[in-house]
Amino acid sequence: MRQSSLVVVANRLPLDDSAAPDGACEWRRSPGGLAGALHAILEQTPATWVGWGGRVGEARPLPDIGTLRLRPMSLSEAELRGYYEGFANSTLWPLYHDAVVQPVFDRGWWESYRSVNRRFAEAAAEVAEPGATVWVQDYHLQLVPQLLRELRPDVLIGFFLHVPFPPPELFMQLPRRVELLRGMLGADLVGFQRPQAAHNVAQLAAKLLGTHGADTAIVTDDRVVRTGAFPVSIDVAEMRSLSARPYVANQSRQLRHDLGGAHKKVLLSVDRLDYTKGIEHRLTAYSELLRDGRVQVRDTVMVQVAVPSRERVESYRGLRDRIEREVGRINGEYGRVGEPAIHYLNQPFDRADLAALYQTADVMVVTPLRDGMNLVAKEFVAARRDDSGALVLSEFAGAAAELEDAFLVNPHDVDGLKETLLQAMAATPDDLATRMKAMRAYLTRHDIRAWAGAYLTDLDLARSPSLGLR
Ligand code: ADP
Ligand code: G6P
Repeated sequence: MRQSSLVVVANRLPLDDSAAPDGACEWRRSPGGLAGALHAILEQTPATWVGWGGRVGEARPLPDIGTLRLRPMSLSEAELRGYYEGFANSTLWPLYHDAVVQPVFDRGWWESYRSVNRRFAEAAAEVAEPGATVWVQDYHLQLVPQLLRELRPDVLIGFFLHVPFPPPELFMQLPRRVELLRGMLGADLVGFQRPQAAHNVAQLAAKLLGTHGADTAIVTDDRVVRTGAFPVSIDVAEMRSLSARPYVANQSRQLRHDLGGAHKKVLLSVDRLDYTKGIEHRLTAYSELLRDGRVQVRDTVMVQVAVPSRERVESYRGLRDRIEREVGRINGEYGRVGEPAIHYLNQPFDRADLAALYQTADVMVVTPLRDGMNLVAKEFVAARRDDSGALVLSEFAGAAAELEDAFLVNPHDVDGLKETLLQAMAATPDDLATRMKAMRAYLTRHDIRAWAGAYLTDLDLARSPSLGLR
């Protein structure tokens, strides 16, 4: 068994399984923040990534990607239902996102969640060399830190939650709250997107486990678990160099032409098709602007990219049906021949085509009801080659704390959302340039490498316990 000094453990491998039958192995760049973020830093680091390849059944060995080894995990149909679609995505995901959809508590799913977490911990224990650093990712694997510590007390364990950590009163609803909290606190450093999450966890731990400590460290019976905020970012350099390709400029010109030419304001949204992303609220706002005659299809068009996600989960299926009905209604009511009000694209795009879309937008509309970070907002800023373009951004995305020069909005307030969209569409070039420059400068300093560097450096402090307490 080959072992590594750095092991990443995440539910998904960052690999496009469908591109692999001929043995060739390509990065997946799956629609989802986690894989994209980590891909950027691991490509050139000797490490092993433990994760699921996206297909049900026995996992087959996969070739390395550059210096990165892949340790594929298999998931059975029952595990997919109980662990992934069930406990992870029907219980934890909605609960952690302010319960914008009612979380489902199904007692049958817990066993599956626990046993899959155990298998991931065992696999990580196998591939970690003595004294290695093991970095566990996200809500799917919240029990892994503690399970791994039992198996391998010699390794340094990090845990990073890509999604929000809810306020204690919501977390307290979880039937398995104590196990989940203890599982996560098995890590040496627990990282979050926002400081508020670390605060929530400290309060919860005091209440449920009787621990002491503050927002930066929790003292359990025998250990100190450090916590902190490390806002995740994107590979700014990659997005910039993509954006500089002639293909992207040509594609953007073509898109602009296809969407109706220079005089049209293009509103763009790019999301996984997920109820946390606020797609329905956004459609309501746009449709009311059309109804009230405050925007017209002859001078405005919306592009909604909504890539399919978690399609077997009931709440996602229902959402897709509702969105498609609403898009049809809006186009039926307000569109003209050859001039729809909304272009709806329920398909994946490759990175260059996404960059071209970002460059074509006049207003990027990112309005999740709750989001750990939202990397699309950051990608939009990085993809712009000039200082034009407005970003309308939900206050409830982690990114809002960093991109303060966006047009910030509460997406639950549809009237406020309508006003903000109009304001962004009418902003002067000077105003837009000031905002874009500030956001771009911020992102340049806070890219994905800065994120990983900050987290791993902090995690490393736990190797010398006296320094570990901040
Ligand atoms: P989440 O992680 O909840 O999906 P983020 O905005 O943080 O939300 O990350 C989404 C990622 O998925 C971004 O990197 C974005 O470029 C990518 N993505 C979104 N839509 C598509 C699409 N249609 N095709 C390919 N990638 C997409
Ligand atoms: C979010 C989660 C990730 C997840 C991604 C895509 O970004 O934080 O852990 O990988 O969504 O979702 P999926 O269910 O397709 O992996």
